[in-house]
Amino acid sequence: MGKKIADSQPVLELRGIGRWYGEGAGRVNVLEGVDLTIPAGKSVAIVGPSGSGKSTLLHVAGLLDKADAGDVMVAGANVAKLDDDAVAGLRNANFGFVYQFHHLLREFTALENVFLPMTIGGRKPDVARAEGLLKAVGLGHRMGHYPTQMSGGEQQRVAVARALMNKPKLLLADEPTGNLDPHTADEVVAMLFRLIKDEGMSALIVTHNMELARRCDGVYRMDEGKLSRM
Ligand SMILES: Nc1ncnc2c1ncn2[C@@H]1O[C@H](COP(=O)(O)OP(=O)(O)O)[C@@H](O)[C@H]1O
Ligand SMILES: [Mg+2]
Repeated sequence: MGKKIADSQPVLELRGIGRWYGEGAGRVNVLEGVDLTIPAGKSVAIVGPSGSGKSTLLHVAGLLDKADAGDVMVAGANVAKLDDDAVAGLRNANFGFVYQFHHLLREFTALENVFLPMTIGGRKPDVARAEGLLKAVGLGHRMGHYPTQMSGGEQQRVAVARALMNKPKLLLADEPTGNLDPHTADEVVAMLFRLIKDEGMSALIVTHNMELARRCDGVYRMDEGKLSRM
């Protein structure tokens, strides 16, 4: 397991991030000069049009993709200077992910989906924490159900519980309500912010949902790879 971010540190600092595809005249800049600091315990929303670079930024911030320019600082370390194992360790110790589609494993129950990520690396799962999280997302009565036996909103709530299993310092979410009807989206948003507060987490959330963005401490807009504060 990687080093945990200290409570006194920002959970993430991005400085002058550039990301591009192709070379020379064919080079396409997807991110340009992106600066973003997420203080401990704060939530940040990123809004902006499709194709503007939001998911690319989330991948760089989540240490799933490498920037072509600029610095990503996590737990006092510049991740460009770390080897792949150390980067994966930092990610596993500090970050939790929620996507638009839940990516639950069909052949496992809700409870198993929540604690299974913890068993990666041979660790003993904290089943009591998994049960507690499922209760916290209002699914205490659904723990033994399979994903196909649950509604879209319930599946997404399992995915949120799973993302929190390792007590992440930072929750990264890419359009977490993008696949839900408005009423269900509101329920998931309310639950998400209750958990963010209870767990004392920071969050970086890409969203088109203005109700979700409004609840965050800071809102940024991405436009053609450039990030500005709203
Ligand atoms: N592997 C890739 N090769 C070339 N272009 C890419 C690649 N991945 C993403 N892009 C481009 O980067 C831009 C931003 O994509 P993305 O970050 O997914 O935007 P958003 O999440 O805001 O919709 C898009 O124009 C997309 O086509
Ligand atoms: Mg996207």
